[in-house]
Amino acid sequence: MNKRLVSLSVNGHRHDVWITPSDLLLDVLHDEIGLSDVRYGCGEGVCGTCTVEFDGEPVSACLMFAVQAEGHEVTTLRGLLDEDGALHPLQQQFLVHGGSQCGFCTPGMVLTAHSMARRGGRPSREEIRYELVGNLCRCTGYTKILDAIEDYVEQVSAEKAEQP
Ligand code: FES
Ligand code: FES
Repeated sequence: MNKRLVSLSVNGHRHDVWITPSDLLLDVLHDEIGLSDVRYGCGEGVCGTCTVEFDGEPVSACLMFAVQAEGHEVTTLRGLLDEDGALHPLQQQFLVHGGSQCGFCTPGMVLTAHSMARRGGRPSREEIRYELVGNLCRCTGYTKILDAIEDYVEQVSAEKAEQP
């Protein structure tokens, strides 16, 4: 199949890549752009390990063609780091609570939770659990992940309340 040059905006940087129309976003991010924080799990939209933010909303990169990302902003886990490479406060909460063991599911978990928190409000634990229904973890039993996200949501909510 003929390749064409597309320009993708990922983590605030432009990447010009030669791809075929059938190339998946997951493969292009991981193999062509070299983002190892985008993970292949099931390849069928079931496990959530390949989650990236697409214009701020979580999507499964294994279910999208890379050409669909032209003209949109894609954010992977490392896009949450600040310019000095420091962890995002949500990642800090995962560290504090031990919400990551092997770490394979962590990028998807963090990005799904990050998108939810950006929408605002103060989701309950049950609402957080529901939001993560498409993100599977084989290690942690979810409790520590939920603890981490719950504390982050509280932190964001408290910061907003302090703003004039
Ligand atoms: S690899 Fe995409 S949802 Fe599992
Ligand atoms: S920490 Fe290992 S799969 Fe979630």
